[in-house]
Amino acid sequence: MKGRRLFFAGILIAFAGSWFGLVYAPQIQLGRLEAVEIAETGEFHPPALPGSARRGREVYRAHGCFYCHSQQVRPPGFGADSARNWGPRRTVARDYLRDQPVLLGTMRTGPDLANAGLRQTNAAWHLLHLYSPALASPGSIMPPFRFLFETRKAGAGRSAGALDLPAELAPPAGCEVIPKPAARDLVDYLLNLKAAAPLPEAR
Ligand code: HEC
Repeated sequence: MKGRRLFFAGILIAFAGSWFGLVYAPQIQLGRLEAVEIAETGEFHPPALPGSARRGREVYRAHGCFYCHSQQVRPPGFGADSARNWGPRRTVARDYLRDQPVLLGTMRTGPDLANAGLRQTNAAWHLLHLYSPALASPGSIMPPFRFLFETRKAGAGRSAGALDLPAELAPPAGCEVIPKPAARDLVDYLLNLKAAAPLPEAR
């Protein structure tokens, strides 16, 4: 009888201990995090994403970009992230405050994208890269996402946003390749990926 009581008390302590350690303590440490105003710029971090970038985030999720790309920069001493130019500082919990769900990623077949919007600011480059990665980034093994584009008959002049493709990828004469709205939204999302605001806890 005595042994059974001890057994159940042990189970209770094990569950209560893990609840304190895994639920309660993180809630105390991180549960009340809020966006902060950055004194240097007067802007809030993390900023709210514009609508197009929020839609683009769903495209990013839907097409599994996170299977090959992480969005987390490790501190110096934990890997070569800063040497690879993946971010000016490590990422911290506050950077992900507005993300639901957080797209940290688990694999790094491609570069970390936490600061993709700082490294490559040219929307046309991103569109070309999605259509034909190796064209924008020689030697790339990233798969193309051509279904985010459509080939259609060109009007009198070239439409704004039509891709500038070399002969081997060019559409049939009289046609042009145009990004679909999902591709434009996705690129707006990529251009907004910045985790560089100087936060005190990231120093
Ligand atoms: C099968 C793995 C794989 C998938 C899936 C993938 N990528 Fe990539 N990505 C790569 C590799 C490898 C590179 C590095 C070569 C290059 O620049 O193309 C890369 C590079 C990039 C870069 C350039 C980053 C930089 O700073 O140089 C961007 C932006 C990017 N990918 C966005 C995306 C988006 C958006 C998606 C989803 C639509 C995606 N990737 C899906 C493998 C992948």
